Amino acid sequence: MQRYVCQPGSTIGGDISVPGDKSVSHRALMLGGIADGDTHVRGFLDSEDCLATLAALQQLGVRIERSGSELTIHGVGPDGFRAPTRPLDMGNAGTAMRLSMGLLAPQRFNSTLIGDASLMRRPMERAATPLRLMGADIITHDGCPPVKIRGHSGLKAIEYELPVASAQVKSAVLLAALRADGRTRVIEPAPTRDHTERMLSAFGVEVLRDERGVAIEGGQILRATEVEVPGDFSSAAFFLVAGCLAADTGLILRGVGINPTRTGLLELLRAMGADIRLSSRSAAEAPGRLAGEPVADIEVRTSRLHGIKVPESLVPLSIDEFPVFFIAAACAEGETLVRGALELRVKESDRLAVMAEGLAQLGVEHELLPDGLWLRGGSGFGGGVVDSHGDHRIAMAFAMASVRATAPLEIHDIANVATSFPGFLPTAQSAGLRIVAA
Ligand code: S3P
Repeated sequence: MQRYVCQPGSTIGGDISVPGDKSVSHRALMLGGIADGDTHVRGFLDSEDCLATLAALQQLGVRIERSGSELTIHGVGPDGFRAPTRPLDMGNAGTAMRLSMGLLAPQRFNSTLIGDASLMRRPMERAATPLRLMGADIITHDGCPPVKIRGHSGLKAIEYELPVASAQVKSAVLLAALRADGRTRVIEPAPTRDHTERMLSAFGVEVLRDERGVAIEGGQILRATEVEVPGDFSSAAFFLVAGCLAADTGLILRGVGINPTRTGLLELLRAMGADIRLSSRSAAEAPGRLAGEPVADIEVRTSRLHGIKVPESLVPLSIDEFPVFFIAAACAEGETLVRGALELRVKESDRLAVMAEGLAQLGVEHELLPDGLWLRGGSGFGGGVVDSHGDHRIAMAFAMASVRATAPLEIHDIANVATSFPGFLPTAQSAGLRIVAA
């Protein structure tokens, strides 16, 4: 099994960019696939998760030409999918599976969705339940994949209040709503990432938004467009934290998506005392706006951090950043408390338990709570071995911990870094981390 070996105490700096946004890349493929006409995508994230979505669309009969991070998707229109001849394998990608449930629920043919060992354990009823209320015929296995979707001749619109704040479930319902009879409305308990809404608008769909949620009228046709995918804030997050811990002369991250439904970590780090500056790019400089996404260059410098109590309202807005947030908190003076983060237990791993295990290995005083984590920071990390349990974000988060470690650090089970951040290793090395794969 592959591992990272990280030398302690590196200084970070320079000018880097991170690959395209994963959430936006999945959506560009899916919306491009059901649009009328050819959609051109630049900055596509060429990662295993997004390639799973790409392969699934090809199995559904969508022709996609790829040259590096540029795609041309020959959309088949709302009724153009063909029945897949075998189960659609979504690999490690929860987004691919849940959003595909929304795409496939209204189709006339049967389909089955499967994934890797981690995805086969993740909850799918949260997406199946509202889709069934729309009339879809979906079977899960004890709430998990395989997800079997039976062919259907028409869905009805619903008004649905999400029991958990989930952009994936919201998006699944919105995708199904495109084919439903009437106006579907999704009400959110707290705002979640809104890439689907922004991109639907870019494809010409009328999206009705208010402070509690979003509604769309069924039967709208998507018109092919151009999508420029911004750099993934969730990938930038690792370097933002490493920069706070060890970028004495500053680290600049170029062209990062700063959609406010994604940047909770900026608020958290600033509340801890981080020196982070954004320079927004104009629409002309940042064609990322073609998909309705704001973009900026971000500069970060070594900062004296102090612990905080994380406001629960910021949890959904920083949901994927908690692994690396805990690394920042472990280096911050005093106590940090996160509550209301039960969702972290059903990500690619149980991120509360796996982070607590790794922090314990590196000598950080902490307490695992049912829905969060308490820790006392300030003394940095000892060296040692950490198991990521196959979770990409946990592997990358602990790599960043090495900048404040007192001895070498090994991170095991790292292959899944390729699901979200191809090129992580050279990017980390160019920022100054002394890290190799072994
Ligand atoms: C995502 C939504 C989030 C996030 C995931 C990507 C998306 O999941 O954790 O990595 O692209 O919609 P939930 O919607 O389940 O919180």
